[in-house]
Amino acid sequence: MAMTYILGIETSCDETAAAVVADGRRILSNVVASQVELHRPYGGVYPEVASRQHVLTIIPVIRQALQKAGVGWEALDAVAVTYGPGLAGSLLVGVNAAKGLAWARRLPLVGINHLEGHVYSNWLEVDGEDAASLPALDAAGRAFPLLLLVVSGGHTELLLMRGHGRYERLGATLDDAAGEAFDKVARLLGLPYPGGPAIQAAAASGNPAAFDFPRGLMQSPEHGYDFSFSGLKTAVLRVVRELDKAALPVGDLAASFQEAVVDVLVEKTRRAAEAFAVVGVCVCGGVAANARLREVMRQRLAVPVRVPPLFLCTDNAAMVAAAGHYRFRAGERASWDLDVVANLRLG
Ligand code: KG4
Ligand code: ZN
Repeated sequence: MAMTYILGIETSCDETAAAVVADGRRILSNVVASQVELHRPYGGVYPEVASRQHVLTIIPVIRQALQKAGVGWEALDAVAVTYGPGLAGSLLVGVNAAKGLAWARRLPLVGINHLEGHVYSNWLEVDGEDAASLPALDAAGRAFPLLLLVVSGGHTELLLMRGHGRYERLGATLDDAAGEAFDKVARLLGLPYPGGPAIQAAAASGNPAAFDFPRGLMQSPEHGYDFSFSGLKTAVLRVVRELDKAALPVGDLAASFQEAVVDVLVEKTRRAAEAFAVVGVCVCGGVAANARLREVMRQRLAVPVRVPPLFLCTDNAAMVAAAGHYRFRAGERASWDLDVVANLRLG
């Protein structure tokens, strides 16, 4: 069968991204224009600045993605674009660019949930991998059910995936997302934005047992697969207030905080993996880049754990094209009045 070439477009937050993916697996190009420097002075993403920057970069980024892939418009099978969840003003730029280009080039349009994009980052081929190997297969060759842990700046969710495009939501955060907790605690410790990489770096020289921070909802039966990180954030704040600002043990605080987040994420994932007898676990989203999370997840789980390479953990369009491949193959097409859905959910 002929290969399927999908152009993916992603503008849900603060990266303008476009990519071409073959057969939902092979990355031909993956262009990401990050706005992180632009937002750093604000300590977080400034929505109006983000959408304005998307407008400036979207066409050059798409052009570059096609050029790097060595693929012309005539070779493409479809355009896949993130339509939610995310910042409405940012999403609009990608969706409108995708619509205009798909219309002009007479290509089908496929709408993608950003979270599903993160999920499919686990299907993309890593160097030298067998293209036919799925994220996980059991002895009988079953690829599903898979357990998904989506951990990003805006989301923390445990999902059961029963097949392509079939999700069941097991639990989610009741307050802050895991990445949001990293970002907020980094600010408390005087570390730069984005907080995740900064905390990880600071934690490398700290003792993870120095502070006994709370593990939110760890023993709560009615919130079996839910998460809560606001109590943890408050606990860090309390310690920071009590201690001498000039002699803050930043390494110990960062390591102890990171350990608490990782402990809860891994333990709830482990319980769900067992309860639903999954063939494997896929971790994805920006926080999946965390080295300690990757390490402990692999140590404590009995089933195979798949985590994408670092460059596919944070927002990119290759993951959107990969998700788009399966939806396109399933016959899904978005209509020309596709609108953005800022609070779109998965499962
Ligand atoms: O998926 P993503 O790029 O954007 C969203 O969709 O939210 O995730 C960004 C989040 C940020 O909160 C950032 O602090 C976090 O991922 N992050 C990390 C690490 N790298 C990025 N968190 C912990 N450890 C890291 N190494
Ligand atoms: Zn994301």
